[in-house]
Amino acid sequence: MTKQLFSAKFRAHTNIALIKYWGKRNKELFLPVTNSLSLTLDAFYTDTEVEFDTSLTSDVFYLDGVLQNDFHTAKVSRFLDLFRKEANRPNLFATVRSINHVPTAAGLASSASAFAALAGACNLALDLAIDTRTLSTFARQGSGSASRSLLGGFVEWHKGQGDDSASSYAEAFDDADWDLAMVFVIINRQAKKVDSRLGMEHTNETSPFYELWPREVAKDLEKIKPAIKAHDIDTVGTIAEHNAMKMHAMTIAANPSFTYWEPGSIEAMQIVRQLREEGISAYLTMDAGPNVKVLCRASEAERVKAAFVSRFGEEQIVIAKPGPNAYPLDKE
Ligand code: DP6
Repeated sequence: MTKQLFSAKFRAHTNIALIKYWGKRNKELFLPVTNSLSLTLDAFYTDTEVEFDTSLTSDVFYLDGVLQNDFHTAKVSRFLDLFRKEANRPNLFATVRSINHVPTAAGLASSASAFAALAGACNLALDLAIDTRTLSTFARQGSGSASRSLLGGFVEWHKGQGDDSASSYAEAFDDADWDLAMVFVIINRQAKKVDSRLGMEHTNETSPFYELWPREVAKDLEKIKPAIKAHDIDTVGTIAEHNAMKMHAMTIAANPSFTYWEPGSIEAMQIVRQLREEGISAYLTMDAGPNVKVLCRASEAERVKAAFVSRFGEEQIVIAKPGPNAYPLDKE
C-alpha cells in the first residue's frame, strides 16, 4: 500500500501570565484551581511541523533539529493521542519538527508556545476543523499555559467546572493594541531546577498560604480586567506585580521551602523600583525561573531596557511587544 502523508506547520507565540496559574485540581486533564490571565508576546515563538505518515510505526520528535529521546517523545506522543482519537485513527503516527525561536542567549524555551503550535499543526494536518476554543482545551493538556498561546493579546483561561474538560478553555480578553511592552531581563540561561509542574504541585500540597490563593486570584482578576480595558498601565502593573509576589511567597512557605529567585532577580527588582521612583511605569512579574519580566509602555521600553543593560549586559535584555494569534505557516 502506498503511504499517505498529512502534514501542516504552525507558529505560536509565548505568553506571560499577569494573573498566574499555579496549581491543578485535576492533574490528568490539566484542570487548574483558578482562572488566569496572560499577555501573548511577539519576541518568542515556536514553529512546529507535524507530518502524519501511514508508514510509521511510532512517533518521531525533533527539537531544534535534534532527535529527542524516549522520555521527551513520549510526552509528545501522549499529546498526539488526543488528535489521533479525534480523527479516529489510533495507529497514525507522526514526525514532529519543532523549532524554538528565542533571541540569542535568551534560553527561554517555552512549553506554552510549543504545545500551542503543535495543537494548531495537528488540527490542520488532520483536517479536524476544531474551533479555537476547543483547540485550547487540547493545548491545555500538553501544558496548562499553552491553552493561552493560541490567542494574541490579553487572554483569559477559564478554570471551568468540575472534571469537565470542555469548560476549561482560553478566550481573548483584549487585543493589547495600546502603548505596551514587556522587557525581559535574562538572569540565568540554565534549565530551571524545579520545573513549574513540580513546583506548583509541591506548593499546592505543602504551602499553608495556598488556601488563600484562589481568593486572591479572584480579587486580582476582578480588579485587573477593567484596568486592562481602560488601558491603565499603572493599575494593571500594580496588580500583576502583587499577584506574582503572592505566588512566589507561597513557594517560600512550602515545606521544604524553595524559591525561583536568584540574587540577580532581586537586583533586577530593585532596578524596577528605582525606575518607578523616577516616574517610569515599570512593573515586574516572574514565573518558574529567575528571569524578571517588566511590563511598561512601549514608548518607554528603550529607557527601561537601558536601566538594566549596565548591570546585566545588552544581550540579556529583550524588548517584546504584544503578539498575535497562533497561525499556519507554509511548509518548506
Ligand atoms: C508560573 O503551564 O508550565 O508560568 O501545566 O504543568 O505544564 P504545566 O505548567 P505550566 O505552568 C506555568 C506556570 C507559570 C504561570 C502561568 O503561566 O500562568
